[in-house]
Formats: sequence, structure tokens, C-alpha cells
Amino acid sequence: MIRTIVCSDYAEMSRRAADIVEAEMLLKPDCVLGLATGSTPEGMYAELVKDNRDGKISFAAVRTVNLDEYYPLAPDNDQSYRYFMNYHLFDKVDIDKANTNVPDGLAADTVAEGQRYEALIDSMGGIDLQVLGIGRNGHIGFNEPGASLDTYTHCTDLTPSTIEANSRNFASIDDVPKQAMTMGIGSIFKARRIIVMASGKEKADAVACMLAGELDTNCPATLLNLHRDVILIADRAALGE
Ligand code: PGA
Repeated sequence: MIRTIVCSDYAEMSRRAADIVEAEMLLKPDCVLGLATGSTPEGMYAELVKDNRDGKISFAAVRTVNLDEYYPLAPDNDQSYRYFMNYHLFDKVDIDKANTNVPDGLAADTVAEGQRYEALIDSMGGIDLQVLGIGRNGHIGFNEPGASLDTYTHCTDLTPSTIEANSRNFASIDDVPKQAMTMGIGSIFKARRIIVMASGKEKADAVACMLAGELDTNCPATLLNLHRDVILIADRAALGE
């Protein structure tokens, strides 16, 4: 079931998402947070950093698993999602880095890496709260539109539209990795609660498709209708208003 929180703009979406993450941390200080990268959650991470500095929340016992990582890409490459997470959150809060996890973008054996990551999530007791963005093409994590979807953590080819959308962060489109390690739909469904953040009119089609309620592997976010606790936090532009 998908509940929607309507926000006026990006700032409100960021604050509302941070409120939900913080509520989880207050209720369960050693919670497992599933985290996402991209432009969408940057404002939420800034709110979390501020509230950690102000002593309102502590990450001391929090454990994290990230959704995805470019492949192949080294963790110290400034385009990697490990680098993003360190920069936007982990280096700025009181988290123990040993408790933070991102798929290995240099794994020699991607099948073994997928199995390792899945076992890791299970050993943590699953995910308490998963944060998701949504791609313009309806992808979640890097589960790209297609005839079928993968269940668990795997290596995937990125679609031309994702490579194009993400090229804004690279010197040229040729520098964007063509593959990624990503949690699958089944990995994401291990989360007890999921929040999906969306801002801006370029997300309106994907959000509308998700809210229409029809399941379609060509818009992977539609699968979220099968999960029992999903909260969409979207601004009016992303809701097509
Ligand atoms: P964005 O990416 O936050 O950079 O728009 C979202 C996504 O692709 O999931």
C-alpha cells in the first residue's frame, strides 16, 4: 500500500523524509537503514547532518546498507556511491564506518558479491527503513525497466536513459559506467518500511505510473504496490500538479 505525503517543494520533501528517518532512529537506535544516492536525497542527508550536530539524533549504533554502486568503479573514485555517502553523510555524523555497507564496485565475481550482499542484509535482520529515489524511467535502485526484473542483489546493465540522466555528474557521457551492482526488488522488499522521495516535474511520469497501481516491469516502481508499507514523499511538481 502506498501512502502519499504531498510537499510544496524540495526543501519540504527533504525535511519530511528526514523526520521519518529520525523517528526510526529514535525508536530503534540500532536500526538498519537502507540508503540511496542521487540528487534527490542530498537535502535529506543535510537535514540529518544538522540534527546530528545539534544533538537531536545519534548514528552511533545505526547500521546501513546502500542500494547500489556503479560497476566497475573503485570506492575512492569521486563518482562512486561509497564516495557520495562518505561525503554527504558518513564523514559528517557520529556513525561507525564499519557499520556502513555499499556493494563492492570492484568485485571480481559479481554473482558471489550479490550473494554476499544478500546474506549481509539477512544477517542484519533485514532493513528497518529503506530510502528510495525514483528514476525518470521508473527504476528503483538500478532495477531498470525491462521484460523481467531480478529478485536479489545482482550486476545489471544501465539503460541509455539512465546513463544520459547520470552523465550530468561526469566529465562526459563516455565516462559513465555502463553497469552497476544493485539490490533487487526482493532485497528492497526485505525492508519493513519504504520511503520513496520524488521531486521535480521530470519525475511526474514515473510517479504517476507508480500510483496508477498497475504492475509493470517496464516501470519497476509499480512493484512497490505489492509492499505493505510504502510512503511516497513527493513535491507538487513530481505529483504533476
Ligand atoms: P536522482 O536519481 O535522485 O539523481 O534523480 C534518482 C534515481 O535514479 O533513483
